Parts: sequence; C-alpha cells; structure tokens
Amino acid sequence: MLTRKEFFNRAAHDWDEKYATVHLSTFLEKTVPKFGLRKGQDVLDVGTGTGVLIPYLLDCVGSSGSVTAIDYAKKMMEKCRLKFSSLKNLNIRLLNVEQLDYPPETFHVAICFGVFPHIPNKPEALLQINRALKLGGRFIIAHALSSHEIEIHHRKAPTVAFDALPKNGEMKNLLKSAGFDDVSITDQPGCYLCISTKL
Ligand SMILES: C[S@@+](CC[C@H](N)C(=O)[O-])C[C@H]1O[C@@H](n2cnc3c(N)ncnc32)[C@H](O)[C@@H]1O
Repeated sequence: MLTRKEFFNRAAHDWDEKYATVHLSTFLEKTVPKFGLRKGQDVLDVGTGTGVLIPYLLDCVGSSGSVTAIDYAKKMMEKCRLKFSSLKNLNIRLLNVEQLDYPPETFHVAICFGVFPHIPNKPEALLQINRALKLGGRFIIAHALSSHEIEIHHRKAPTVAFDALPKNGEMKNLLKSAGFDDVSITDQPGCYLCISTKL
C-alpha cells in the first residue's frame, strides 16, 4: 500500500480537474468569510495541496498581509508553484506540519482545509501549530463535507480509508491539550468547520 505522501504525490496531477470545481468555489466563497480574516494578517495554509484556498486567503489579508502555504507532497507543491509563484505576499514551502520550524508567534491564523484527518500524529501537529500562532491567534479546520461524508469519501482509497476527524468531544480535548480554547464545531452536510483560539 502507498504511504500517504506517495498517495498525495500521485494524486497531484489531476487534483484540480477533480476537486477545483464550481461547487468548491461556491463553498469557499460562502465559508472563507467565516474564518474572520482581516487585512494585514499573516496566515498559514497547512496542507495547501495545489493551493485551492490561496486566492481566497490572499484576497482577505490584502497586500499588507501574507499567506504561507505548506505541504509535504513535492508534486502538490510543484503544481501550486506553477499557479502562484509570481505572487509577492505568498510563501510556498515543502514542509511537514509535524516539523513546523517557524519562530513562535509568527502567524495570526492557521488553517487546515481538507487535511486534518490525514495527519497521523495529531497531538504533535497541534502543538506545532499552536507554537507558531500568535497569542489570541485562530486555528481553523475546514472541510466541504461533514465528518460522516468525509469517512464515506475516504473509503474509496485504501491509503486514506481510515482517515477521519476525531469526534467532537475528542477534538475539543485534543485542542485543549495543545493550548487552544473557545472551540466551536459545526458539522453538517457539505460543511465541517472547527474554529479555536490560542490561549
Ligand atoms: C486532501 S488534500 C487537500 C489539499 C488542499 N488543502 C485542498 O483542499 O485541495 C490533503 C493535503 O495535505 C497534505 N498533507 C497531508 N499530511 C500532511 C503533513 N503532515 N504535512 C503537510 N502536508 C500534509 C497532502 O500532501 C495533501 O496535499
């Protein structure tokens, strides 16, 4: 069986054809405003893939803010760079979220869009993200599916077949153990949104 990294490297070539759909654009237009981003903020896009979220984030933070987009799959990063490398306030980096090396309190907001179920060591990733966020910074986990719909979607591919979001109580405990508070979770058909704040 493929490792997750191999799986995502193989998936990169037709990722946008499969997933960067009108349906996804409609979802992002409706959902990104709920992230509460403001002009001038520095945002970390964890597991950016081909960068489907990047234009929406850049639009929110404006030219005085920045977006740092990381992913551990080289082929995803290549696709992302082809599309966006000319943009000035965007940093694209090949990096595993479990090995974040940014100085403490670098970012105002960190976002995992379509990524969190795939991270094997969630407590470690959350500690790393918490460290990289400013005090009062927000951490957002978002999906264009409910947690149940994600489980059904992942069953199609053996590598990710058991990748799931933690149940709400477990998610809250994980976030609290990593230093997050004010956790709110929306889990409904076509949308999962978990927003928390660094204490
Ligand atoms: C389902 S894709 C979502 C990509 C993009 N956010 C989107 O919505 O189109 C998950 C992405 O997370 C990346 N990823 C998974 N685990 C990661 C990790 N530990 N560190 C960095 N990136 C990771 C994968 O390489 C893949 O590009």
